Amino acid sequence: MQRTFAIIKPDAVAAGQQGEIISIILQNGFKILGMKQKRLSRADAEGFYAVHAGKGFFAELVDFMTEGPVVVLALEREDAIKKWREVMGATNPANAAEGTIRKRFAASVGRNCVHGSDAPETAAVEIPFFFATSELL
Ligand code: RTP
Ligand code: MG
Repeated sequence: MQRTFAIIKPDAVAAGQQGEIISIILQNGFKILGMKQKRLSRADAEGFYAVHAGKGFFAELVDFMTEGPVVVLALEREDAIKKWREVMGATNPANAAEGTIRKRFAASVGRNCVHGSDAPETAAVEIPFFFATSELL
């Protein structure tokens, strides 16, 4: 079993797509260990995406991630990290495969509905960024 971290981003929450996205998560065999709705502060978003600090899209990314509430999730499944990224689809929805969340719901590379950890080391930092151990059930 492996854990990964997911965010339903502000665009998808504002559009009322949380339920459909959570359904897709469950249909794909993920167990939800933790889930909460939260409004990220600028410090949260800058810290969470610190790996992208200095890139041209960083300010736009922080503005977007703080514009409204998100849903953060800690997920568990066999091969969870790779599988969740497959279910999400490519970063740019124009390149996302048919049937993926980003293909179905995302408007653009900057407003792309969902986040997923990209490696075990990333998941190991991202889950505790938002969840105490006691919140993972
Ligand atoms: P995420 O971290 O959100 O799961 O997305 P990702 O791994 O598929 O993509 P990543 O390279 O980590 O980029 C993080 C987020 O930054 C925004 N972005 N905008 N305007 C642009 O060219 C651009 N490039 C990246 C996207 O919202 C992307 O999800
Ligand atoms: Mg990423």
